[in-house]
This record gives sequence, C-alpha cells and structure tokens, in this order.
Amino acid sequence: MTRESQPGPSRASSAAPRATIFEVGAPESACVLAPALDVPDVDVESALPGLARSAPPRLPHVAEVEIMRHYGHLADMNFGVDSGPYPLGSCTMKYNPRINEDAARLDGFAGLHPYQPLETVQGALELMVGLQEALGEVAGLPAVTLQPAAGAHGELTALMCFKAAHTAAGDPRTKVVIPDTAHGTNPATVSMCGYETVTVPSDERGLVDMRALREVLDTDVAALMLTNPNTLGLFETDILAITEAVHAIGAYAYCDGANLNAIMGVTRPGDQGFDALHINVHKTFSTPHGGGGPGGGPVCVTEDLARYLPGPLPTRLDDGSFALHTPDASIGRVRSYLGNFGVLVRAYAYVRALGAQGLLEVSEQAVLSANYLRVLLRGVFDIPYDRTCMHEFVMSSATLKREHGVRTLDVAKRLLDYGFHPPTVYFPLIVDEALMLEPTETESLESLDSLGAALRSIAEEAGSDPDLVRGAPYTTPVRRLDEARAAREPVVRWSPQGE
Ligand SMILES: Cc1ncc(COP(=O)(O)O)c(C=O)c1O
Repeated sequence: MTRESQPGPSRASSAAPRATIFEVGAPESACVLAPALDVPDVDVESALPGLARSAPPRLPHVAEVEIMRHYGHLADMNFGVDSGPYPLGSCTMKYNPRINEDAARLDGFAGLHPYQPLETVQGALELMVGLQEALGEVAGLPAVTLQPAAGAHGELTALMCFKAAHTAAGDPRTKVVIPDTAHGTNPATVSMCGYETVTVPSDERGLVDMRALREVLDTDVAALMLTNPNTLGLFETDILAITEAVHAIGAYAYCDGANLNAIMGVTRPGDQGFDALHINVHKTFSTPHGGGGPGGGPVCVTEDLARYLPGPLPTRLDDGSFALHTPDASIGRVRSYLGNFGVLVRAYAYVRALGAQGLLEVSEQAVLSANYLRVLLRGVFDIPYDRTCMHEFVMSSATLKREHGVRTLDVAKRLLDYGFHPPTVYFPLIVDEALMLEPTETESLESLDSLGAALRSIAEEAGSDPDLVRGAPYTTPVRRLDEARAAREPVVRWSPQGE
C-alpha cells in the first residue's frame, strides 16, 4: 500500500486541486445569458463619452453543466459540519438546523432595509426583543444588547461598559485580571480598552488558583475576565468565592460565554455572580461559522450596568408596540444598525424550536458526548486533567512526541485522512502539545466511536510508522501549507497570467 492509498475519506481524495472557473471551458461553450434589460437601452458612448468599455467583459466560457461541476467540486474540497465530525474545541461546530436558514431567508426578514420606518419593521423589532429576553433569561442577566458582531466584539462592549461605570463613579482603574487559560481575545480586548492585563495562574486542578487570585486583586483592578467552564473544559467550582472576591475590591466580574453550550439551562452566569457575559450566538445558538462570516456576540449585563449599554436598543412599549431606545449613559453605538440581523433570526429560530427544555438537553448532551469521548481515549493520549469535564476536554500528544517524535500537529493532519476535522491544537497554552476536543451534542454515538477509533489508530501508527503520521495528510486537495504565510499573505484574487 502506498502512502497515498492510506485510509482516508473518499470525498476528499476525489477532490484534486483544479483551475478557477476562468481557466476551464472554451470560447465555444460560452453560457452567458444576460438578464433582460429593466432600464431603457442607451448608447453609453454617446451618453457618457469615454466611459464605455473598449473590449467586451472577460466572462468565463463554460457550459451550464461545467458551472455545476465547478461549484460542486469547490464544495467537495471544503470541509464543514455537514461533511463530517468537526470537534474543534472552544468553537462549538455543531449541526446548524435548516429551520434557522428557512427563517432567516423569509422575505419579511431578508428583504428589510435598515432605514425603513419603525412602524414597518415591528415584527423584526419584536423578534429582537424576544431574543434579548430569551438570552437574558439563559444568562440570568436581564439587560441585553444584540449589537456586537462577534464574541471578541462582545468582550470589548462589556469592558467599555465597565470602564464607563468606573469612570462615572470617579474611580478609573488600570488593570484587568485574566487566568492563564484564557482565549487570546481576552487580553486583546483588555489592551484595546486601554487597560493592562494581569495574568493569574491555574492550579493543579486546572482551575483559577484562588491564592494567586487574591494576591493580585487590589483597588486598581477594574475587572476579572473568566471563561466558565474554562478552556480546559472544567467548571470553575470556586466561582462564587471568585466573584465575591472581585466584588469585594469594587471590580466587575466578566464571563466569556464562549462555552455557554455546556451550561445553558443548568446554571446561569448571573447566579454565579457575573456582572456581564457575552454569548457567541454563532456557536451556542447555531449559526454556521468558521469561515469568518457574520456572527453575533450579544452582551447581557445586570440592571445596574444597563444604562451603559450601546444604543439604540429594541424595546417593548406599554401599548405592545416596539421602538428603539438609547440608555441615558450609553457608551454609544458599537456597530452599524442593530447587529447582524440574519444571525439573530437564526438564534431566535433555534431558541423557539428547542424551548427551555430543549436548550437544557443541548447542554446535557454536549457534556455527555465530551465525557464519553474522554473516557474512550483514556490511555491512548495523555489527558492531563482527567476528570469529569464539561462540553470539551484537552488531551496531549506529549508522550507521542517524546517516544516517537510525533507531535500534535501531525496527529491533527493525519486525522484529515480519516475524514474528520482536527480538534483545536496548541490551545490552551498551559498544556504541552494540546489537542482540545469538543464533539458537541449533535454527534451520534456511532460518530463519537468512529472519531475515537480514528484517534486510537493514529496513536498506533505513531508507534509503528511515525513517518506516516509526520507526512500526513495524503488525501486532501493540498498537503501541508506554510500556515503562517497562508494566514498573513493569503492570495484571494486570481489574475490572468501576465496581468
Ligand atoms: C473562549 C473564547 N472566547 C472568545 C472567543 C472569541 O469569539 P469570536 O470568535 O466570536 O470573536 C472565542 C472564539 O473562539 C473563544 O473560544
């Protein structure tokens, strides 16, 4: 068996790189059918001298069947949640129910213009108010803005509210405390807000080290940012003592809600003592994401902080109609219009389809899936914090590296040959050779078993034929890329040769 015929998904192996649509086809197979003119036909050259093009536009010369094959082929080269399991830790890549898409595409939503008079968009405002209420209930924090366009944007919005509140109290502070397991967007947000980051270590349990936390809490601290459950997939069991200690020095407690998928309907960040939370609705509330497309990072805060929220906010009036309202001490707009509306429609459809009981079951099932997989992989990979986890857990390839020279990146690349998207790698930073797996609630028992079997098989290959793993992937359209260059200098535009 050659390396190239090693196990792998048939769909990926059939997807060899192919030309852009401009490079396929031939002039005689042109399929250019311009739509009928819906404006008067004018002679552009005489109406606008010098502006008419000198040569016909360069359009692809492909027959309809080639167009279909071309786009079908591009879809084959992609890997998404609809292609197979996608256990990308911290990203909640779960199945996105199609009913959300149907709702977002309804003419009355998709065809709205942001400058329409309010009396013509009452249904859209009602939907946003309904979503604000639902998210506020899940969070245990009643005041909600839907404006932020992503989780990181939500973090920034919340910290700006904290800053405004401290400033209004005549007590501007300088520091924000973050645990060493935090996502990179947390310290980035702190800098953008003009604060200094103070890092607090985790203890041997993988939780915030309470003693170290108490040492850094002083009256210069504006806030603590904490992800709960944290990025090791562990619930911060000292959470009540943590938020109490933060409040005792007059600071605010911020919950990075990227991991809400583990606790929704079970426990509420507001009840844990948090003052603000962002929700990645594109994760927990099932909008397709991963390619940098539109997301949503609604922020939920306490009654006390409500007056700082960005405006305008959709509001329900006493007569049952809907209007926009800007809080008296608002930090101002953080995004144009009212947020990524299509994403909000999807989130609302998801909430309404599942109901309170359904959302609770999502979390229970997500936690069950992660624990099942963790136990399945016990003894195959190192699991540094091997105890009941929440919706994700972190393994390590440290032993494979030491004994066979096979690293986490190699394992991740080899997993592609088995038809799975790799887990998150090298995060959180405190775990050597980390692999962070979040299977989500939408994977079946069979799919969890096959993911576990693939990882077991790769660990065995690392012992019997380490070069095989180090050389992976073999079945994907492209092999190993210069990832730094691909991220920093992406080539996103095709030009004909010589131009
Ligand atoms: C723990 C955590 N916090 C914050 C974020 C930022 O969210 P977003 O990508 O929506 O900006 C992420 C995203 O992966 C995350 O995992």
